[in-house]
Amino acid sequence: METTNAERFDRMLKLTTSLLFEKERSFFRCDETSRKPKRLVEIGSGNGYYLSQLVKDRPNATATGLEMSEALYPYTLPYVHDRLQFIQTTYESYQPEAPFDTVLCRLVIDHLASRSHLYQWIRRHTTPQASLWIIDIEDIACHAFDALPAYSALFVRERRRIRPGGLFSLKQRLRAELMEVGFVEEEQMSYDLTHHHPDQKQQLYTYLRLSAQLMHDNQAQLDKIEQELQEWLTDVHSTLSIPMFAMQWRRRN
Ligand SMILES: C[S@@+](CC[C@H](N)C(=O)[O-])C[C@H]1O[C@@H](n2cnc3c(N)ncnc32)[C@H](O)[C@@H]1O
Repeated sequence: METTNAERFDRMLKLTTSLLFEKERSFFRCDETSRKPKRLVEIGSGNGYYLSQLVKDRPNATATGLEMSEALYPYTLPYVHDRLQFIQTTYESYQPEAPFDTVLCRLVIDHLASRSHLYQWIRRHTTPQASLWIIDIEDIACHAFDALPAYSALFVRERRRIRPGGLFSLKQRLRAELMEVGFVEEEQMSYDLTHHHPDQKQQLYTYLRLSAQLMHDNQAQLDKIEQELQEWLTDVHSTLSIPMFAMQWRRRN
């Protein structure tokens, strides 16, 4: 049976969650200062798997995932329970009935039409001391695939399309913008999407292969990339490290 792009994307999001969740979870644990119930929202929650893991750690929290893709929405259904819901909508057109105290933006910032709109939306729909968590790939990740030249050409092109280069990195731009709109940076963490065990290397390989299947232009290019990835997987000395960052911000008022 044909694999659909939604199936590929679902698998990719499960893989990034299983490769990164433990690191990111320890970072966000330091935000759990209060035992009072929390209202958490994720902007661009994809298949909902990441949010479902996060909510497990927070027995007092209720969470809402906002995901605009109609094709991905059915993948969220297995994760729904009394404290976790998913709504198929753009965040821009969603009007919550009560303010949130935590907003998560994971791997979504580059996809949004306007960051200033996002900041206004957050100010309008959060409590005065609300937390904002941002997780994304570092700009330098464009150079992370030297061992995979064919894959790298495709990856760099796609990254540049959604994140045009400039004098300042995304992280620097986010810092300047968030300070301007009244947020204070509380924590930040730099880490890598990488592999420490053969099963993680296999997961990373599968992730790269699926992403190439989504991005490629023609079959000859895809065949070349798949061969390159296969050689990378079987070479015991080959490695890969994609630098990531996580930031925690708090609304000042
Ligand atoms: C790379 S995925 C990340 C999914 C999830 N945050 C995770 O980390 O597993 C980004 C998702 O954001 C969604 N998205 C992009 N812009 C959006 C918007 N304006 N409102 C809601 N969802 C959006 C996309 O459809 C996509 O599923």
